[in-house]
Amino acid sequence: METRARLAARVAEIAPFHVMEVQTAARALEAAGRSIVHMEIGEPDFPTPAPVIDAAQRAIAAGGVYYTSALGLPELRAAIAAHYATHYGVEVAPERVIVTAGSSAALLLVMALLVNRDERILLADPGYPCTRHFVRVLEGEPYGVPVGADSGYQLTAELIRQAWSPSSRGVLVASPSNPTGTTVPRAEMARIAQTVRALGGQLIVDEIYLGLSYDGEPISALAVDDDAFIVSSFSKYFNRTGWRLGWIVAPERHVRDLEKLAQSLYISPPTPSQRAALACFLPETLAIVEERRQAFRARRDFLVPALRELGFGIPVMPNGGFFVYADITRFSDDSERFCREVLEGAGVALTPGIDFGRHRAADHVRFSYTIGESQLAEAIARLRAFLRP
Ligand SMILES: Cc1ncc(COP(=O)(O)O)c(C=O)c1O
Repeated sequence: METRARLAARVAEIAPFHVMEVQTAARALEAAGRSIVHMEIGEPDFPTPAPVIDAAQRAIAAGGVYYTSALGLPELRAAIAAHYATHYGVEVAPERVIVTAGSSAALLLVMALLVNRDERILLADPGYPCTRHFVRVLEGEPYGVPVGADSGYQLTAELIRQAWSPSSRGVLVASPSNPTGTTVPRAEMARIAQTVRALGGQLIVDEIYLGLSYDGEPISALAVDDDAFIVSSFSKYFNRTGWRLGWIVAPERHVRDLEKLAQSLYISPPTPSQRAALACFLPETLAIVEERRQAFRARRDFLVPALRELGFGIPVMPNGGFFVYADITRFSDDSERFCREVLEGAGVALTPGIDFGRHRAADHVRFSYTIGESQLAEAIARLRAFLRP
């Protein structure tokens, strides 16, 4: 007799992260005395900036750690709005900013606002897997549109037009992207916004890596579409992954409904984390994170040519975030096996492309440059010895 409770079908359709298997195997090798260079990690190696830690300690010592408004502390909403003016040159009313428990909660709220059962959200394949999962959890249909080097591994207005169907409700673009580190150019973002609007859909732009842009001025999609939902976070640029704080910039008419959803889903974003986040916008914190952005850029400038020289295919220079999405067809047609072999043979941990979708996923791996330059050089030396014995 079946004794286990029957689970909802959605659970079976949410794939576990294969990178976790890489991490488990890497830990086992480390426990056995092997040295491993970790290039599978998806978070900055830099610690939270000291002024933010100080602010958190002061906030906790002062007490008053109660729920805040579901929309977040008013002074933090105002500070985020001001950051858009100073950093990206776009005016945002503080009332449009909704502070969330990471951009994960931001994505969940926006999808909960927009998606009915069986309605489609178009997104790039390869792309960040959790976004697909949020749509699925809400009984919608995440619809992966294959993207390749010809479009900078990003959606275009043309691809969206071709993939659109009567059940399509909206489009999610992540720029810069995880796993490809590539960005949608301003003119294409404007075309995408126009197209989605003309099709009667809603544009959502995940800008969690926008602060970590390396070539030219970073451009928020708000500069070309004031009516898009923008999702962002303190996790990456401000080095605050564990503090679980992000935000949405929403069209004003949707704020009340997003507030209702946030109230029900998690009541409010974490209070000490919000108080500490106010210190993110101090000049001394911005100086620290800017210096780290330069360090990420220097790492990228070292890593990409070195990987190309080894035979990895990187046809488009990644210009944001901290990922390189590399074609491995010179070496293998099975990214999962390749990651296992590189881990065991070279002691370098990578993420297989199959974590990011289906389109040519077995032909790609993701490198994270969340390690210092000497470690990157060590990884290259190990890969060279392994791939060209
Ligand atoms: C593209 C993208 N969006 C959203 C997230 C979620 O981040 P958080 O919830 O820490 O803001 C991540 C995390 O890696 C990501 O890569």
